[in-house]
Amino acid sequence: MAAFLSRTPMATPAANGRPSVGLPGDVVRKVRDNSPLQIFVNAKRKINDIYVEIEDYVKDSVSYMRSLQNNDQLFSNDDFKVVESHISKVRSIRDVLLRDHMKVAFFGRTSNGKSTVINAMLKDKILPSGIGHTTNCFLQVEGSESGEAYLVTEDSSEKQNVKSVGQLGHALCKEKLKESQMVRIFWPKEKCLLLRDDVVLVDSPGIDVTPNLDEWIDKHCLDADVFVLVANAESTLMVTEKNFFHKVSQRLSKPNIFILNNRWDAAASEVDYMDQVRAQHTERTVDFLVTELGVCTTEEAAQRIFFVSAKEALQARLQEQKGQPAHTGALAEGFPKRYFEFQDFEKKFEECISQSAVKTKFEQHSQQGQHVVSEVKRVMDAIYEKSLKTRSEKLMSKKEVHDKLNFTEQQLMLLTQEMKDKIHQMVEDVEQRVSKALSEEIHRLSTLVDEFNLPFHPEPLVLNVYKKEMHLHVENGLGSNLRARLSTALALNIENSQREMTDRMAILLPDDKKQVSLTILPRREPFEILYRLNCDNLCADFHENLEFRFSWGITSLISRFMRARSSDIAVLNRVERIPQPLTPLGDPGHTVSLRGDSSSEDWNFLSKIAVASISSQGTFGGLFVAGFMLKTVGWRLILVSGAIYGCLYMYERLTWTNKAKERSFKKQYVNHATNKLKLIVDLTSANCSHQVQQELSSTFARLCHLVDESIEDMSGKVKTLEKEVKLLEESANSAKVLRNKANYVARELKLFDEAYLKQQD
Ligand code: GTP
Ligand code: MG
Repeated sequence: MAAFLSRTPMATPAANGRPSVGLPGDVVRKVRDNSPLQIFVNAKRKINDIYVEIEDYVKDSVSYMRSLQNNDQLFSNDDFKVVESHISKVRSIRDVLLRDHMKVAFFGRTSNGKSTVINAMLKDKILPSGIGHTTNCFLQVEGSESGEAYLVTEDSSEKQNVKSVGQLGHALCKEKLKESQMVRIFWPKEKCLLLRDDVVLVDSPGIDVTPNLDEWIDKHCLDADVFVLVANAESTLMVTEKNFFHKVSQRLSKPNIFILNNRWDAAASEVDYMDQVRAQHTERTVDFLVTELGVCTTEEAAQRIFFVSAKEALQARLQEQKGQPAHTGALAEGFPKRYFEFQDFEKKFEECISQSAVKTKFEQHSQQGQHVVSEVKRVMDAIYEKSLKTRSEKLMSKKEVHDKLNFTEQQLMLLTQEMKDKIHQMVEDVEQRVSKALSEEIHRLSTLVDEFNLPFHPEPLVLNVYKKEMHLHVENGLGSNLRARLSTALALNIENSQREMTDRMAILLPDDKKQVSLTILPRREPFEILYRLNCDNLCADFHENLEFRFSWGITSLISRFMRARSSDIAVLNRVERIPQPLTPLGDPGHTVSLRGDSSSEDWNFLSKIAVASISSQGTFGGLFVAGFMLKTVGWRLILVSGAIYGCLYMYERLTWTNKAKERSFKKQYVNHATNKLKLIVDLTSANCSHQVQQELSSTFARLCHLVDESIEDMSGKVKTLEKEVKLLEESANSAKVLRNKANYVARELKLFDEAYLKQQD
């Protein structure tokens, strides 16, 4: 207790009139020359700046997440909703922050001087004061941003003249408001440092004139940073006052309560008991704060109890405003001490309200900010991790597809070469087979022609039809024979080649295309070669000779010999074309001897006779021949020979029937067709091999097309994956930037905590 009593205003650190508070070095340096209220002001500015950054950060994060919404599910919808919800949360915190101020509420019994204390602090007679019950409602004085003085009632937003506060707030005036109602008085900030530094002062009606204390507390006390109990030093602390603060401390945890023992000027007239009274008041109020309310320690309570005269302080300040000295002779004794204590109260109050308001107002905001930032950071972290993971997955699949693409392209090149060779081989094989088979069939053409059994008649019209049918028969017969000989084997070969192609190419195809490749092969009809033997055209120049010709007649014999001769010549020509061994020099007749010189001369002789006999139509010729024969072989032999010759002629003439004509026709046809068909063997086989080549090439081309499609698909996929990887890289980078920004903002909040909150703990 002695410590409290020995405490004098001079004992307070007041190097420049402002005691410092326990703050970090840089903050202390900043505020040393300023009011302690600047701590709140600076803290408010700082947390506002941080919240601007938080708001930007959350907005950036939301627009970033929106830009990712189509991308690989990098985050859940719930995450997005969480981050998005922070925009409105941060907005409303910023709104609250703008309204945040340091609020001090004055309570006490009627006429204790509440309004006078506030006026003294504001250095102006703003609030109505006077004896009896004066203040009839809550009056809140706050700084006016615009610099104009006005007031606003609870019921309307209309700005009223500030002079009307004497009417509205005074209990004796007609225009009475309800006691719990609030009138907000806006006073120019530049007129008062307290108001400039965001302090709001709330005057109240006497707590002894109303039963509605609970309503008051609910409405006006819950957001107050400091309570000032204005007590009357002429009496003592009353139960009403104690009860009210009991209620307050039940609703708020450890409220900051200052006790002003006002009207201490009255003690000047009772100097003898002044110290005892002061000690009594101090003991009782400390006991009230420490023991009854438990809101502070005994040491702290010593800094919360003051003995002042608000009336004197107000008068002194009004004097100072006018430029006159505060101290005049009219004042009671001990004024300087009381005035100094009033100023000391103001300093302590400023320190207390500033620290308390920073804690109560901004600690929560700082924690909320940390929560918002950590939530968004968590999502950004998750997006960053997921982006990196998805990116590496995509890179792997890109590599896989790329490798497969290269493999497919190389294999396709190799396979194409291999298949070309195979097709070439196959084509040559088919050409040989067809050529061989056709030659054999031509050889067997007479059998085919003999099988033709349409009734024969030499009549030209009938014969024409017969020929046409014959062409058809030969054409069909040859075709079907060739087919019978070749088709099965060739079709099998071709099918095997196609199957091999499909199997080899299928390895290069993806599963879905493998199915398509299988549908390329099974044709409804197996491949069949068309042997285009157009006998109609081929044998169009066939002209039969069905005239009777005696086989032993001169002409026949000549032509027979001519044929034999021509075939011999042909043989000889062929023999001649064969390179001969070198003949010895001086034996040039060797080749000549090969031709058989004597027989050739005989033949020349006979033919000359025959020709002569035919050509000499006159008797001379006949006689010449007859005479020559007669002379050479004798007449009997000639007679017998003539008879035999005649019989032969008769026989042949009689047997020259339709059947014989048909045989002759067929023979001539076979000869003609054989010659003609031989001419087209190469052409037909080339044609057939071309068909095979076409078939195999088209199958291969279709398969190549499928592989090309899959190569195209793969390169498209590679490009898409490249794009996706790039997008994921960008998104990972952005997520990293946002994550780092979260770290930066969190650090800012931590520094804020360290600067303004932790030092107070
Ligand atoms: P209500 O508004 O009715 O609750 O009263 P209040 O607590 O606001 O008191 P107010 O400020 O109106 O002062 C009441 C009377 O006390 C006024 O006439 C003041 O001049 C006077 N008064 C206030 N403070 C002091 C003081 O320190 N000393 C003296 N002598 N008179 C004071
Ligand atoms: Mg009052």
